[in-house]
Amino acid sequence: MDIKIFKDLNEIGRAAADIMVSHISSHGKTVLGLATGASPLSTYKNLIKDYENGKVSFKSVISFNLDEYCSIPASDKNSYNTFMHRELFDHIDIPEENIHIPDGNPEDPSAFCAQYDEMIKNAGGIDIQLLGIGNNGHIGFNEPSDTFKKGTFIVNLSESTVQANMIYFNSPEEMPRRAVTMGIGSIMQAKEIILLAGGKAKAQAVRDMLKGDITPLCPASILREHPNAHIFLDRNAASLI
Ligand code: F6R
Repeated sequence: MDIKIFKDLNEIGRAAADIMVSHISSHGKTVLGLATGASPLSTYKNLIKDYENGKVSFKSVISFNLDEYCSIPASDKNSYNTFMHRELFDHIDIPEENIHIPDGNPEDPSAFCAQYDEMIKNAGGIDIQLLGIGNNGHIGFNEPSDTFKKGTFIVNLSESTVQANMIYFNSPEEMPRRAVTMGIGSIMQAKEIILLAGGKAKAQAVRDMLKGDITPLCPASILREHPNAHIFLDRNAASLI
């Protein structure tokens, strides 16, 4: 594992964007696995800056997002679809047809989940997967549980996740309690992983990920078995390791 400690999320964002831009520049076609939330915002800002400065084009990039809320439409201001367009896609030249974000309200959930995994496979698998980490050690929305899930599935969000993400909604009742997420198996198949964590609230989860048992009770701990994972932390997130 490549564990690096940075001053803050801005520095982390630059380092993560550099890895992605250098892969896109040298390989052309690149399949990116993308995350939402606060952690990747500075990475996306740096990707946009590099695009505006002519350093990179996203024309041959294919993206797959990790997760999406159930029970709100893709057009909702709090959907991950809206987030990704607002924070990244609307500002770069990625073709709309190359963008994949899970459908949070599929008619046939198990068919949809199988199809999402199939689409990732057909695209050649994920080259670089960006991850945040939940205060409870989740990656994607793989919540602490007694098994590591393989493929994409529908999950009941844990109380910790509901509490952490409620701030984005007008009222606690509006916060969805279910989501569709890539499974641990799908995440672990990515050729390269970059996990970003900033802030004191992440310190215990980071400690459990790096120093605790490898267990589905701390889903991120499985990353210790990945052959090419970067763990980019700010000083606060790294304060307990
Ligand atoms: C988001 C996702 C989640 C977040 C995690 C951290 O797509 O999959 O695992 O990465 O909850 O969220 P932030 O970055 O908001 O602290």
